[in-house]
Amino acid sequence: MTMQVISVPSTPFSGQKPGTSGLRKKVTVFRQARYLENFVQAIFDTLSGQQGQTLVLGGDGRYYNDVAIQTILRMAAATGFGRVLVGRNGILSTPAASAVIRKWQAFGGIILSASHNSGGPDGDFGIKYNLGNGGPANESFTDAVYLRTQEIRAYDTVESPDIDLSKVGETCIGDMVVSIIDPVADYAELLESLFDFDRIARLLARPDFRMRFDAMHAVTGPYALEILENRLGAPPGTVVNCIPLPDFAGGHPDPNPVYAADLVAALADSRSGLSFGAASDGDGDRNMIVGRNFVVSPSDSLAVLAANHALVPAYASGLAGVARSMPTSCAVDRVAEALGIPCYETPTGWKYFGSLLDAGRCTLCGEESAGTGSNHVREKDGLWAVLYWLNILAVRDLPADVIVREHWRRFGRNVYSRHDYEGIEIAQGDRLMNDLRARLSQLPGSEYGGLRIATADDFAYVDPVDGSRSERQGIRILLDDGSRAVFRLSGTGTEGATLRVYLERFIADPGQHEIPTQEALAPLVGLADAVARIAAITGRKVPNVIS
Ligand code: G1P
Ligand code: ZN
Repeated sequence: MTMQVISVPSTPFSGQKPGTSGLRKKVTVFRQARYLENFVQAIFDTLSGQQGQTLVLGGDGRYYNDVAIQTILRMAAATGFGRVLVGRNGILSTPAASAVIRKWQAFGGIILSASHNSGGPDGDFGIKYNLGNGGPANESFTDAVYLRTQEIRAYDTVESPDIDLSKVGETCIGDMVVSIIDPVADYAELLESLFDFDRIARLLARPDFRMRFDAMHAVTGPYALEILENRLGAPPGTVVNCIPLPDFAGGHPDPNPVYAADLVAALADSRSGLSFGAASDGDGDRNMIVGRNFVVSPSDSLAVLAANHALVPAYASGLAGVARSMPTSCAVDRVAEALGIPCYETPTGWKYFGSLLDAGRCTLCGEESAGTGSNHVREKDGLWAVLYWLNILAVRDLPADVIVREHWRRFGRNVYSRHDYEGIEIAQGDRLMNDLRARLSQLPGSEYGGLRIATADDFAYVDPVDGSRSERQGIRILLDDGSRAVFRLSGTGTEGATLRVYLERFIADPGQHEIPTQEALAPLVGLADAVARIAAITGRKVPNVIS
């Protein structure tokens, strides 16, 4: 049944510019009439050849997910997609969406998520487009979408009632088939093919090993239940906060020591009997790894995964290379050097890893912001990282903290922390970065509290595969002793600006490895404030989130 396409007149909204990971705005902004429609139409206008093809659609289940799915289904029918694969109840974690796109060779996918940002009617919503490789569209695509949003005059839709998404099966909107799929099955099968599930199951069955996975009331709950409890046999109750809620129970689904403080406290309390903890974020692509009284820094985690690749079936035959975002610590660089494989340094955001993965240049990638992943999908993957750790723990039979400490002894410790100044004024953030940029050439040779600056620059990246260039990806200040401070403004926030200051210092001497992170970095913090005039410009003497 061919349906009549209805063209609804519209006018552009300002600010529909995708950031680090898609377009993120307050729900109140997305709920304005025509706002979502304009953006989706801009995506569809930027694509070509989608007629008759398959689109994957799903999200992290946050508030407005269900409404947005129905709108997008009607518009997908209008633009001529032949089939849409939708996760049951509109649910697909970000890595699962990537896996589904790849497995079914879809044309692309639309993922509805604002990741770790809070949800609910006053929270955040987001949308991004992923390409047929399963990864986020690159900058040239998102720039083109943004341009299109600025000139849009109408969007196309069809008249059709809402579809019941609660049951797996097929229905139609006109000529377009809507396949409602189990959101977990394809993903669980993929992960099972990568790791030694038998060995992990034996670890989870041991009375002296107890694990807790905190799904933070977000999308990973059903995935973790299926994989950890059903397939691997972890005791019931291993996965906590496992029902995805539209407002994440009012919490902030960001797996870090601030927002997952309960988990960290439980692992610090010997009475809990827990030996290993993990958590994931709103859309399931981030991870936190916690040992007994020990939170593994995401940068260290990436390095440990790389160093132990031989223990994991999917990676045992070797890594083609590794990649990390520029602000991520250089811990993995040391592992790459020891393995004799390349280590790529990319701008912040998963979209930059895609071309390296597609070209087979790297196998593992990671970011300091709790994101790790591999060539099995084209997104970072929270549960994947947890299973990778479990696989290592199962083979090495050592606690997580001992594995990290041994890693430091072998490679040295890259002491690392990120200081965030959230909710500063946009003008202040811009001024701070512009002032600093203007002074870059004067900085080398200057000294602050005994620390000497060796070089200072604004990171630019040329993709080694497609030659595309990305400018202004963060200001780097490198000291004589190899320490560094990096400054950039967040591209995912929805209120004011967030200044991120990334601090790193290398300590080779094992006798010094137990020094508390913030203590080790204190002189560098002083230098960062003096050089960038953080307090002077923003009025903030201290960051509000330290991770
Ligand atoms: C943040 C992280 C970045 C990550 C992105 C999406 O972006 O810093 O590493 O890729 O979220 O999860 P930012 O807000 O810094 O632009
Ligand atoms: Zn996320």
